[in-house]
Amino acid sequence: MISTVRGMRDILPADMERWQRVETVARQICGCYGYRELRTPLIEREELFVKGTGESTDIVQKEMYAFADKGGERVTLRPEATPGIVRAFVEHGLEQSLSVPKLFTLGPMFRYERPQKGRYRQFHQLNIEVFGVGDASLDAEVIEMACTLVSALGIDETELVISSVGCPVCRPAFSEALLKALGEDLPKLCGDCQRRATSNPLRIFDCKVPADQPIVDGLPHSEDYLCDACRGHFEAVQGYLRAYDQPFQVSHRLVRGLDYYTRTTFEIRSLKLGAQNALLGGGRYDGLVKELGGPDRAGIGFAAGLERLVLALPESDDAVLPDVFVAAIGEANREAAFVLARALRAGGLRTLVDYEARSAKAQMKRANRAGVRHVVIVGDDELARGEVTVKTMATGEQHGVARDRVVDSLLSAL
Ligand code: HAM
Repeated sequence: MISTVRGMRDILPADMERWQRVETVARQICGCYGYRELRTPLIEREELFVKGTGESTDIVQKEMYAFADKGGERVTLRPEATPGIVRAFVEHGLEQSLSVPKLFTLGPMFRYERPQKGRYRQFHQLNIEVFGVGDASLDAEVIEMACTLVSALGIDETELVISSVGCPVCRPAFSEALLKALGEDLPKLCGDCQRRATSNPLRIFDCKVPADQPIVDGLPHSEDYLCDACRGHFEAVQGYLRAYDQPFQVSHRLVRGLDYYTRTTFEIRSLKLGAQNALLGGGRYDGLVKELGGPDRAGIGFAAGLERLVLALPESDDAVLPDVFVAAIGEANREAAFVLARALRAGGLRTLVDYEARSAKAQMKRANRAGVRHVVIVGDDELARGEVTVKTMATGEQHGVARDRVVDSLLSAL
């Protein structure tokens, strides 16, 4: 048998109600906050992510499904949505057609990571992005929206962590301070950290290697190196979050694994999910639109991992069962049963039928196993009276209903 590729997963019918719940709530919330849906291709030019996500990131260094297509062009399955959305925003001049460009997309992303619970090679994200607004009120609204999404899904035991990674004015001084503080300790750090020291020293805070922690814990904090403008912005974001009564923690170790961030970054983590506990993450990226060839516009957004939201959803008895089974008694009544099934489906009832001319007893057994509430029995006696028999499975009670009344009768009994 040919199985799925490592890190790829089927989403089975039994899990689908949970997925649909997440997607429905996500769409509703995006609508309430004024976001319009956008769908970008799964395949983009490789250089979009090399430039956008950043050459020094793990995503670009080791995780992209990149290849030359049959025409020899370097393309990749998208590892994240943000650069593609920026590209579409610029390419289609969306600034002109949307008063505030607030965009969302739902769909699969691809990263060649080591698969484990909550981490897959094909995974799905809700991604939201806003362009052209630099004010701190939007940072707080985006963060508050992310918190609203999580709580609207009934997910509890989470924490919101925020940080500011500064801007091109103040970050060089902070990077320099980090390297200075590391000094002779640098060679004692892991290989990844040594590489980060040259490519992007802030990413040393991402290090999870236990032996490195005493050194990393002793490093300076980004907050102490923010320029006045970034400090004022970060304080204003926190002020709005307090006005929303939104609890948060400030963590200087939240630097996030993508190169484009400026100023605010944030994550919502589940306290229940184990190692892969980031439900969503995002931040501001005020230089990215310009970097990718567009006008000089601010940008901010976040992406939520749908697999992780589905994993964190509270249990609920939400299996969608069929409503009705139409049982034809005798070969002669099968056509009448199928025609009745069509009418029930047109009335909005989830309706099953038997395709194999089984006995009445076998059809009842099937109906029972499928979990339907009612069986509609189409037999000679009933049809002769212009009726069908409706059996309620929970009570075993059955009664005759006029054929042309059966849809209304079942709808009112649901
Ligand atoms: P990210 O932190 O790389 O950010 O991913 C966002 C979320 O996607 C994570 O918090 C996690 O829930 C989910 N995720 C990431 N990788 C995997 C994986 N291998 N398997 C399952 N879930 C995963 C971004 O992607 C940015 N584009 C977010 C953003 C938008 N920043 C600004 N705008």
